Amino acid sequence: MIEKVVDIKLLDLIAFRYNLAQYSHLKRLTMYINPNWRILTVGDGDLSFSASLLNYYKPKKLTATIFDSHKVLNQKYGDEFFQVLQKQGCDVLTNFDVTNKNTWSHLKPQNYDLVIFQFPLIPAFSSKEDFQKQCKDVNHHISVNTLNRHLLRHFLVYSFRYFLDPKGENLCYITSKDVKPYREWDIENALLIGLKPSDMPINYLGQMKFDINNFPGYRIRNVDRDKHVKDTQGNTYVWSNKNYETLNEKLTIPDYINPDLSDKYCTYCRVGPFFSDQDKVEHSHSKRHKKMSEYEQQWLQSLNLV
Ligand SMILES: C[S@@+](CC[C@H](N)C(=O)[O-])C[C@H]1O[C@@H](n2cnc3c(N)ncnc32)[C@H](O)[C@@H]1O
Repeated sequence: MIEKVVDIKLLDLIAFRYNLAQYSHLKRLTMYINPNWRILTVGDGDLSFSASLLNYYKPKKLTATIFDSHKVLNQKYGDEFFQVLQKQGCDVLTNFDVTNKNTWSHLKPQNYDLVIFQFPLIPAFSSKEDFQKQCKDVNHHISVNTLNRHLLRHFLVYSFRYFLDPKGENLCYITSKDVKPYREWDIENALLIGLKPSDMPINYLGQMKFDINNFPGYRIRNVDRDKHVKDTQGNTYVWSNKNYETLNEKLTIPDYINPDLSDKYCTYCRVGPFFSDQDKVEHSHSKRHKKMSEYEQQWLQSLNLV
């Protein structure tokens, strides 16, 4: 497998020289994966992402995890990729709930360079009682939006505290779609709010485009059904407690979260630039902004920060 971090021009040259037409898709590579990394995947639906990662990127080590049991995996999607991974000696852990430490007993702690969660989404509720049960730890004004933010906050905090090797690369990737309801989770700003940098010195580094064509065989799955989701454009958001020169070159920090431009954009709604105060005021009265402000308020309340 060709080194993925290779410069695009160099890749072109190699492909031309050796007539490697089959590698041309790598030119569109967006998610940065270094084959020297030890990678943990979380909530990997039918495991097709992990299988593609293993086959096309050959990381030094890969542990794939799914939330479902093997039986449920089989019922929902079949266990084709489970078998593929196991045959190649890759550890696959079932019943792995990233929010629940009791489900991680088979995972060697602090043993990874990168933890990836592709298209996270809480499972659907089976009933009203189920919804109320899931909300029991969280205070008033809860919504599905808040629950998804809690899932991602747990993912980041636990990854840095328990999964990532402090002497390793210390990276977390979340890939999500830039459409509603996912963009309403305010992924880039909201997830680490209220954590003391001394306890949890994680920084949001920026985003990369996610191009599914770079992961042959990967099918983005619905949480609960044997259907794969439309290949809508996604972004991979990146966190670390290190400063990363190699990675920084590949990341974008959009204007809407640039602190120097905060008076020109609405960070929550990813809207701007505003050309006048009038523009800004009009946006703040819009339905979209009011809804996002409500979600932000619910989030802060659930964290006891207001
Ligand atoms: C929209 S699906 C995406 C599945 C897969 N990552 C993909 O890209 O096809 C969301 C996934 O998040 C998983 N998930 C939800 N809550 C989880 C949790 N607490 N721990 C681990 N995975 C979880 C679900 O089981 C489901 O597979």
